[in-house]
Amino acid sequence: MQTVIPFDIEDIDVARRTDYTFKYNTRLGRHGWLRLTPAYSVKLVHEIIRKDCKKGDMILDPFSGTATTGLVASELGFSSVSYEINPFLIWLGNIKCNNYSVRELDALRKQFAECLEVVTVSDGHWIPPIHNIKRWWHNDTLAALASIRNQLVETFGEPNGNHYHNLVWVAFSRLIIETSSAAFNHISMSFREDTVQYGLTQIKLLFQTIFTNIIISAKTQLSGNAQVVYTDSKTLPTNETNRFDALITSPPYPNRISYIRELRPYMYWVKFLKNGSDAGALDWEAIGGTWGVATSNLKNWTPLNNNLPGRLYEICEKIGKCEDKNAEVMSRYVHKYFDNIHSHLLNMSILLKPDAKVNYIVGNSSFYGYFVETQEIIAEIMKQIGYMNVCIHTIRRRNTKKGLLEYNVKANWKLQ
Ligand SMILES: C[S@@+](CC[C@H](N)C(=O)[O-])C[C@H]1O[C@@H](n2cnc3c(N)ncnc32)[C@H](O)[C@@H]1O
Repeated sequence: MQTVIPFDIEDIDVARRTDYTFKYNTRLGRHGWLRLTPAYSVKLVHEIIRKDCKKGDMILDPFSGTATTGLVASELGFSSVSYEINPFLIWLGNIKCNNYSVRELDALRKQFAECLEVVTVSDGHWIPPIHNIKRWWHNDTLAALASIRNQLVETFGEPNGNHYHNLVWVAFSRLIIETSSAAFNHISMSFREDTVQYGLTQIKLLFQTIFTNIIISAKTQLSGNAQVVYTDSKTLPTNETNRFDALITSPPYPNRISYIRELRPYMYWVKFLKNGSDAGALDWEAIGGTWGVATSNLKNWTPLNNNLPGRLYEICEKIGKCEDKNAEVMSRYVHKYFDNIHSHLLNMSILLKPDAKVNYIVGNSSFYGYFVETQEIIAEIMKQIGYMNVCIHTIRRRNTKKGLLEYNVKANWKLQ
């Protein structure tokens, strides 16, 4: 029988609060180094930490993305650990959360200027094996980027580890996206009609500006400590104990937005991705992944847990019966998403201290006109597992399509 939970939903104005989206982050120093549309708002994380955490608390974010939680926590003097399965995001997150000395930054500035000075455009340099690359960059722009990349490798080596040289590679990642035809919309990325032709001088100037801005924000010292580590948060990490006082995160939503799709240009240029099949394999491991093989694998997928909330089975049945050739696979997609979320919530609870506070920022979705109320299903799963004081707060309206909202599902881990 389906459980009915008396949710504590606040009666607030659900306006489209852009201060509660990634757009708010773009001018905030390190937070704005690279934009990723599913990043959540710095302001929101600030508010949650200020409300839920006290000095010395240890914070966990099991879905790091661009490391917003880790960076905000560190700016406020807290220690945190963030989990992520995408190697590019692990690299980026750690570079964003590092401290850099004035000496390192000065040395880097000098090396960067010398490196840029000697770049000339020539053919034959490595370009990434991105499908339909001409859609992303004009031929001349591509030749200039490839020549710059070649010189960067000679001067700094390929991106690697936490070394301060990586700041140059973050700037290069920003450069490739700024010179591409990618357009960032509210919830995803698309292409502009035309690619733009950049000359070498123009690109060098742009690169210099991006690099300088990154160096300026890298000077700010972070008083906390943040680490981003490779961990599949559907599983129980080895060597971890129940040491976290708070969990603050925005997991993927069941809305078929692929993080891989948006990250591909960066990942190819800085060599975190070698081909399309790697991208599909990575997305299959991700909760809600939907790229390439991640969708076709669904046909053979079987759930781990057969006792998920009744309302999930009902909505999956409705989706599966829709008149569409993909209806069955969409139904499985939604089912797998919540099966994964169940494994995740169960395993993370083992890492939490008694009474730890958890905040999951999630959105609902619509499939063929049927609403998947993610926040309610997650809240029910939390209750089944033993989380206490589960309640849902509405944060904002996500887009003009009526009914798509963002919520915070809050709870406490149980007292022992
Ligand atoms: C909505 S994004 C998080 C955005 C983040 N709050 C930010 O501000 O950038 C969700 C992230 O979860 C990661 N992810 C998906 N499945 C995962 C898993 N099983 N384990 C760890 N990370 C996962 C994705 O790669 C993605 O970066």
